Amino acid sequence: MSLIELAGVTRSVRLADDRVLEILRGVDLSVDAGEHVAVVGRSGTGKSTLLNILGMLDAPTDGEYLLDGRPTRRLSGRRRARLRGESFGFVFQQFNLLTGRTVLENVAAPLLYARGRQFWSRTRLAAEMLDRVGLGDRLEDMPDRLSGGEQQRVAIARALVRRPRVILADEPTGALDVDTGTAVMTLLDDIARESGAALVTITHDLAVAARSGRHYRLADGVLVPVTLVAPDRPGSLAEWVGDVPVLGATSDAGAVATATPPTTLLRELPGGAA
Ligand SMILES: Nc1ncnc2c1ncn2[C@@H]1O[C@H](COP(=O)(O)OP(=O)(O)OP(=O)(O)O)[C@@H](O)[C@H]1O
Ligand SMILES: [Mg+2]
Repeated sequence: MSLIELAGVTRSVRLADDRVLEILRGVDLSVDAGEHVAVVGRSGTGKSTLLNILGMLDAPTDGEYLLDGRPTRRLSGRRRARLRGESFGFVFQQFNLLTGRTVLENVAAPLLYARGRQFWSRTRLAAEMLDRVGLGDRLEDMPDRLSGGEQQRVAIARALVRRPRVILADEPTGALDVDTGTAVMTLLDDIARESGAALVTITHDLAVAARSGRHYRLADGVLVPVTLVAPDRPGSLAEWVGDVPVLGATSDAGAVATATPPTTLLRELPGGAA
């Protein structure tokens, strides 16, 4: 049984002119505890929609979302909100920190919704998590005083302070330079591994995608497994992160493989697999 599983998930919305836009069309995805999965795809292909469904910020139009093997469709809004707070941690491209609140208050904020020991120890737990991300000496600073990489580390501490079983990262390095992005992803990987959490990362950056164990491409609302292969270095992915990867679709033997710089946008990648 997987920790999270999507089976035939669709998501459509009715547009202002009454047309129906099918954002996701039959997405299947299973992620186990401790796994790191990356999803790449052009802008507007439904990546954030997919991540919002995984994090219970949105619900499928059709199909099933199973958490611990149990369907989530009939859960009340209250129960969904509780599960969301307990089980999921979100990291966004623009950090989404609370302005006017200190770094420590930002990280402690999710614990205001926790119960028992987590609630009563929230300040200590937040300080410990900030120490873990290397910001133990910036607790009383305001977030806008920090660099982009530091703000993202605060956001990571906030996402992880309740020890979620699933970490969902939507373009977590999108607003960072390459080196800072690498440092932030290393931190996210390390903490996810330590806590055995599942990590789903959405990214345009192939070097970021290459860090994960499994890769998918979202195209026209369909999720396709893809393989990242380094032609001249057949060793483990970890060995060539930062080098030039090649993207080929495992579901389509005829897919063209083209060398692509690691930080390139997906629109430059070979298409047509879905
Ligand atoms: N509630 C909504 N109402 C109308 N259209 C929507 C809604 N939510 C998403 N869309 C549309 O669905 C498509 C997918 O949106 P989504 O934000 O998931 O894309 P994305 O892959 O995350 O894009 P990006 O890489 O630019 O962040 C877009 O065309 C968007 O305009
Ligand atoms: Mg998006």
